[in-house]
Amino acid sequence: MPNTVIIGAQWGDEGKGKIIDFLAKKSDAVVRFQGGSNAGHTVVVNNEKFIFHLIPSGILYPGKKCIIGNGVVVDPKVLVAEIKDLQSRGIDLNSLYVSNQAHVVMSYHKQIEEIEERQRGRRKIGTTKRGVGPAYTDKIARRGIRMGDLLDRDVLTEKLRMNLSFYRDFYRLDLSLEDLLEEYLDYGRKLKRYITDTSLLIHQLMRQRKSILFEGAQGTLLDVDYGTYPYVTSSNSSAGGVCVGAGIGPTQIDKVFGVAKAYTTRVGEGPFPTEIKGEVGEMLKERGKEYGSTTGRPRRCGWFDGVILRYAARVNGMDGLILTKLDVLDVLERIKICVAYKYKGRIIRNFPSELRILEECEPIYEEIKGWREDTSRITMPKKLPEQAQKYLRKIEEIGKVRICLLSIGPQRGDLLVLR
Ligand code: GDP
Ligand code: IMO
Ligand code: MG
Repeated sequence: MPNTVIIGAQWGDEGKGKIIDFLAKKSDAVVRFQGGSNAGHTVVVNNEKFIFHLIPSGILYPGKKCIIGNGVVVDPKVLVAEIKDLQSRGIDLNSLYVSNQAHVVMSYHKQIEEIEERQRGRRKIGTTKRGVGPAYTDKIARRGIRMGDLLDRDVLTEKLRMNLSFYRDFYRLDLSLEDLLEEYLDYGRKLKRYITDTSLLIHQLMRQRKSILFEGAQGTLLDVDYGTYPYVTSSNSSAGGVCVGAGIGPTQIDKVFGVAKAYTTRVGEGPFPTEIKGEVGEMLKERGKEYGSTTGRPRRCGWFDGVILRYAARVNGMDGLILTKLDVLDVLERIKICVAYKYKGRIIRNFPSELRILEECEPIYEEIKGWREDTSRITMPKKLPEQAQKYLRKIEEIGKVRICLLSIGPQRGDLLVLR
């Protein structure tokens, strides 16, 4: 398989973990390039459920190199716990690598996030409270602590001193340098064997013509540039984030695929034009088990949004679409699909780049009859009910992108290869 990027095409939780696990089988390495432990990627194998927050979702295949790239913000406490949990379940972690240039999420980043969310009041973002935003803030402000720094007492002491003085002045946080120093040096000792120059490692793999999967976290609509700003995460979760987050050039990427659910969900605050408030929304939430993999919060549910798909296809340069959770729609009598928005009486076909416009957009729907058949046991694409095939064609037509993989259940094998 060539070097392939998998990103979320909606607001996250599209089922990326399951797809990465499937594609990892035919790849040599899987790389996370942005985000932090705000991500929760689920893989279900033989009814055993794994939820990955930092470790790439290819780790269940022994020997596949799993790389946490420089663009990720790493909470070492979470990483140590994740490693321990996987080891206790018999998973081999000898091929895990963590970038020495990845920035560290410190415990005080979570405290700062709490303060900032409180200050936002009515305009709070509804973050996952994993300290991700403040860690990226420190990175851009050039005071961040990097994974490599956890291996050097002198460097870490100096950086901590500077940061604690800043946070004392700015947030009146009174933190103990000694305690933080010892806690984070200890994480450094525990993680030392994994920490390395991952950009160089990826380069070497590419020179050996190995195939690499790049695993996006969050989704296009949560991208700090292209998402519903400010209701977004603090990294570039669209395909553009791969190069800087992994240390490669655009010429080294062969294919980009977006993952979308057959409907839409969103966790946290912010506009969501096709949100369903009421019975059908509740039904999708229950059938789709739409509760956050990281925070357990219920996800808001809505109809499939074709305007968003067209936008995601554009800003990611998508070569194809991977559609998940079609089975969740099996019981519906009628299914709506958003083809455009209406704004102040005008029809809008392109996703608006301004929040105040998006907030006033109303979806324009087309409706099809549901198929009302169990799709979760289908093993051949041509056996899909006619109405389901019609639904897929409609999505392709609206999004101007082909569906290549279709997921019809949470288990590893619940997949149909369409192209
Ligand atoms: P990610 O963050 O994009 O990896 O997605 P999550 O793991 O947060 O959420 C996706 C959820 O849907 C998980 O609970 C998966 O086990 C589940 N899932 C994935 N694909 C399917 C599917 O095709 N059908 C059903 N019913 N569940 C799925
Ligand atoms: P995966 O990788 C869904 C959302 C939060 C909040 C906003 C900002 O599992 O798809 P943050 O903690 O990042 O500062 O929160 O982004 N969010 C996600 N929603 N899936 C995710 O990850 C998410 N990661 C962050 O709910 O609205
Ligand atoms: Mg998730």
